Amino acid sequence: MGLEQEIAKRRTFGIISHPDAGKTTLTEKLLLFGGAIQKAGAVKSSKIRDHARSDWMEIEKQRGISVATSVMGFTYDDVKINLLDTPGHQDFAEDTYRTLTAVDSVIMVIDCVKGVEIQTEKLMEVCRMRNTPVICFINKLDREGRDPFELLDEIEEKLRIKVRPLSWPISMGKTFKGVYSLYEKNLHLFTPSKQTVEEGIEIQDISDARLDAYIGENYAKQLRADVELIEAVYPEFVVDDYLAGKVAPVFFGSAVNNFGVKELLDTFIRIAPPPQPRATTARLVSPDEGRFTGFVFKIHANMDPKHRNRIAFVRVCSGKFERGSNYFHVRQDRALRFSNATAFMAQDRETVDEAWPGDIVGIYDTGNLKIGDTLTEGERLTYTGIPSFSPEIFKEVINLDAMKTKQLEKGLLQLMEEGVAQLFTFVLGNKKVVGTVGALQFEVIQFRLKHEYGATVQFAPQNIYKACWISSDNPKKLQEFVESKQRHIARDKEDKLVFMAESRAWLQMVQENFPDIKFHFTSEY
Ligand code: G4P
Repeated sequence: MGLEQEIAKRRTFGIISHPDAGKTTLTEKLLLFGGAIQKAGAVKSSKIRDHARSDWMEIEKQRGISVATSVMGFTYDDVKINLLDTPGHQDFAEDTYRTLTAVDSVIMVIDCVKGVEIQTEKLMEVCRMRNTPVICFINKLDREGRDPFELLDEIEEKLRIKVRPLSWPISMGKTFKGVYSLYEKNLHLFTPSKQTVEEGIEIQDISDARLDAYIGENYAKQLRADVELIEAVYPEFVVDDYLAGKVAPVFFGSAVNNFGVKELLDTFIRIAPPPQPRATTARLVSPDEGRFTGFVFKIHANMDPKHRNRIAFVRVCSGKFERGSNYFHVRQDRALRFSNATAFMAQDRETVDEAWPGDIVGIYDTGNLKIGDTLTEGERLTYTGIPSFSPEIFKEVINLDAMKTKQLEKGLLQLMEEGVAQLFTFVLGNKKVVGTVGALQFEVIQFRLKHEYGATVQFAPQNIYKACWISSDNPKKLQEFVESKQRHIARDKEDKLVFMAESRAWLQMVQENFPDIKFHFTSEY
């Protein structure tokens, strides 16, 4: 098969949700359809159980497990699907943000009882940055949830994306009857805890009297009224609008009952985009270009100090990746040989000899690669769209053992390269501040510095609200700003200037007072 056919049959996506909405359950059902697993319960939940919420070792172990499920490859209806897993724990949200840079589309799971939750809002922001196409799956219809119209309004409002229902629930909770597919014009009846999937009953015309026979007169009446309203309120579904990230088609179902999942998957493989062209510093790279390019979006470290290897996850963007070839490491300006590349299947890894656009390969690395690195066949270009986001918690690193300063610096550098946290170095006094999304990372960093590098540190809380990358069209104004706010200026790992704002109100005031300065909340601008 040629490059173009390989590209056309690939779909690389991620599932995002607030913890507990049903991501793991849906993943498992999708894998069952793909034949990638044989029975339910095979997918380890990447979610951390309540009792372990504060136990980060447990979380690290889970993350260890999740290496195997980092990328779940399976084939369905001749389509090669790569499902990229995202950590469930919100302290590791930054991992999720970065994984979203490597997908071509997203399925978003929303709990019909809880509606749009905060984590989903944040993840949607990340999708919006690249106009990633989103399909919504409203889950747990076997429970008494919120009114479906209200849920759709909430998605539009909170997630700032237009929606278009492609299926519609008939009642919910104890009286949940099933869904009517507005797209396929068929009816799927719900039987609790029945895992087998029945063919839909074709009902082209909603006024068909058979509807009354299947779901009862009252529910049929309600469905007709709902469908009439939907057709009046929501414009026709246009696939191109979905592909442009402007409209999210919505499905309803119950993952745990395997209800509505097949319809979701069938539609997904039909409308979700194959690998798309991607932006680099030099030009747009099309997947069907013959020469291989790819970028590192995730690094997983081995926490055993005796085996300091790590796995770098590379998304193939164009051409064909071949094991054993030399590829050009753009940042280091040299060729590297990758003899030990791994492909990821649902539950195990296997050595791959070749990989195509949309595929993810795992590369064993001893410290050459970091997140955001680009590999090519020689061309000097760097993939963009893999930014750092402003962290939410900031603490100063205090070295408790002056004899181990070198080890501390090395350890910090490597942990930052893995993306565990971000390091900001203040221009005045060289103060080092670590920024993270969650509180757990500080424990992770402290432990790993001690056990892997022999360095002992403490963290001192900092009064910082946000890290804002700053720029200006006027270099003189930027210089003036930096001088006047010297105590609050730091540099990130790439030496970019960052303004460390103490509070929202203060940031607003500074923004007003310095109109020539641009404040950015991600490192790419
Ligand atoms: P997550 O990965 O998004 O965190 O969610 P996960 O799939 O682990 O699901 C969270 C809980 O919601 C699980 O229950 C799961 O069984 C349940 N769930 C998933 N889909 C549905 C559904 O369609 N209807 C209902 N009623 N529940 C659903 P749990 O009690 O936390 O775990 P478990 O003991 O059932 O595994």
